Amino acid sequence: MAARGCEPSRLPLPVLLLLLLLPLLRAAGAAGARWSGEGTSPLLQSIFLGRCAEYSSLLGTEERNKNCTAIWEAFKVVLDKDPCSVFPSDYDLFINLSRHSIPRDKSLFWENNQLLVTSYAENTRRFTPLCDVLYGRIGDFLSWCRQTNASGLDYQSCPTAEDCENNPVDSYWKRASIQYSKDSSGVIYVMLNGSEPTGAYPVKGFFADFEIPHFQKDKITRIEIWVMHEIGGPNVESCGEGSVKVLEERLEEMGFQYSCINDYLPVKLLKCVDHSTHPDCALKSAAAPTQQEVPSLYAEQSASLIIPLLVAVASVAQK
Ligand SMILES: *[C@@H]1O[C@H](CO)[C@@H](O)[C@H](O)[C@H]1NC(C)=O
Ligand SMILES: *[C@@H]1O[C@H](CO)[C@@H](O)[C@H](O)[C@H]1NC(C)=O
Ligand SMILES: *[C@@H]1O[C@H](CO)[C@@H](O)[C@H](O)[C@H]1NC(C)=O
Ligand SMILES: *[C@@H]1O[C@H](CO)[C@@H](O)[C@H](O)[C@H]1NC(C)=O
Repeated sequence: MAARGCEPSRLPLPVLLLLLLLPLLRAAGAAGARWSGEGTSPLLQSIFLGRCAEYSSLLGTEERNKNCTAIWEAFKVVLDKDPCSVFPSDYDLFINLSRHSIPRDKSLFWENNQLLVTSYAENTRRFTPLCDVLYGRIGDFLSWCRQTNASGLDYQSCPTAEDCENNPVDSYWKRASIQYSKDSSGVIYVMLNGSEPTGAYPVKGFFADFEIPHFQKDKITRIEIWVMHEIGGPNVESCGEGSVKVLEERLEEMGFQYSCINDYLPVKLLKCVDHSTHPDCALKSAAAPTQQEVPSLYAEQSASLIIPLLVAVASVAQK
């Protein structure tokens, strides 16, 4: 299951490899890591407090007076607990102190798109995904756990879902995801990866298990799904296909109004920044059929601006 925030998911394959290799590494005396996840992040407290303080400037004036010391103190109780006995509810006070409202129509849920979501959201300027909410920002890319039989943090390794379900990091993202979902309103956006070989919508995952079930139906106007494909493919799934269809049917059953868009143009244009010479990024073909009037309008507008400019430049040059 992918961790939330915008942190890269722990891919099943490398974990599997790691598990296979671990006995070998141990036998060779190369690694003493007990768990399959990354150890506690060095400077955890400093990063936590720094991120908290920095994020506060993004909050509205009424919500800006967050006490980062109190938030840290609420968080750090889990650092005294057995690393396989930390539950989502252990973060209740932490969430209570750090939560703030999420702007309407700005929630962006996702699976298998972490870096794209971060760059598209642009630090709350365009959207507010979980990693752009205070309690998601604080834990993004970090890891933490106590040692198994001793006090003090384990900097070597921390448990993942493969080791034990109730580990500190997964429980954190479960609790954070639940809150994020409960506080989301208006139009809900969902970015999926249609090039993901295991399916765009993981039927077991943070979105499926900890976010969808907590949607507040009375606050949500509609749900819009974007299925993004890698530039040049592969197109494993699109709207109405495979696991995306499973998601659409689930939302319909729940009584939500939803729509699904393949390669939503603004996000595709952002992906094209890294593939500007690829034929799929040529501006003419980048436009979806229904949006073809838009670029031609821009083309007319820019021509009507450029031609007088050229005339002006030419007349200056002649003098
Ligand atoms: C912030 O929280 C800490 C710890 O609970 C407390 O000692 C301090 O007085 C609080 N600061 C403010 C400004 O409320
Ligand atoms: C969270 O804060 C609210 C007030 O905003 C309070 O009523 C509630 O009891 C608090 N819950 C916890 C777990 O501290
Ligand atoms: C989408 O999934 C593919 C296949 O797993 C992966 O290579 C690609 O990086 C993913 N795209 C994003 C934006 O994460
Ligand atoms: C942890 O402590 C318990 C009880 O003292 C002991 O049975 C167990 O072997 C210890 N585990 C490790 C990994 O040290």
